[in-house]
Amino acid sequence: MIYPRIIAHRCGGALAPENTLAGLRLAARLGCCGVEFDVMLAADGVPVLMHDETLERTTTGRGRVAEMNSGLLARLDAGYRHHPAFAVEPVPTLDEALRECAALGLWANVEIKPAVGQETETGQAVARHAAAATGKLLLSSFSSIALRAAADEAVQLPRAMLFDAIPADWRERIMETGARALHSSARALTGEALQAVRDSGFPLACYTVNRREDADRLFAMGVSAVFTDRPDLWASAEM
Ligand code: G3P
Ligand code: MG
Repeated sequence: MIYPRIIAHRCGGALAPENTLAGLRLAARLGCCGVEFDVMLAADGVPVLMHDETLERTTTGRGRVAEMNSGLLARLDAGYRHHPAFAVEPVPTLDEALRECAALGLWANVEIKPAVGQETETGQAVARHAAAATGKLLLSSFSSIALRAAADEAVQLPRAMLFDAIPADWRERIMETGARALHSSARALTGEALQAVRDSGFPLACYTVNRREDADRLFAMGVSAVFTDRPDLWASAEM
């Protein structure tokens, strides 16, 4: 599996409001080839870009994402809390984000981020919408259930298993979900786990790496890609 080396975390990293179309556009302007964003279901089952189960941190709304229809979510402001200069930035649907990625030529890592108890339906819905997209993408999740459901819905879509620290049973988790790569926390990565993954031939991408020297060290150790909030630290030719 081929990865862009530098992947803008939550769309544009720290430079734009997370999980927004403004973030995707900024990432493209910086020369990024790849972006990552988080996807959760609205109350009406529409997959939308959102990291938290609640709206308060990133939007002007209140309450739970899973209890609000996508039409109402679209009217919230997902930009203002990042900076007033980004005011009136909507919560995008997955379809809108994937269309934007295709238009901008961005490879997309769609992280399936189910609300607790909605693992299966979120995996299924995200895979169904992603299968209809035209651009290059990869699905990932911390949830084996969501990833398995995505595989059952659209087996042709590549999948990566997400971990914080890579657990001892990572091979079983990969087999169970049919994933072809691992994503793990850079902070929790041990030399032993890295060696085991490298020996297996599975690509490994690490999050969240916000210093160039850390990324350089990980690349030298054989890591394939890093998720970063600071894609501006690289020149476009390096990404
Ligand atoms: O997909 C990598 C990374 O985004 C996982 O952590 O919490 O930022 O979604 P989080
Ligand atoms: Mg994420």
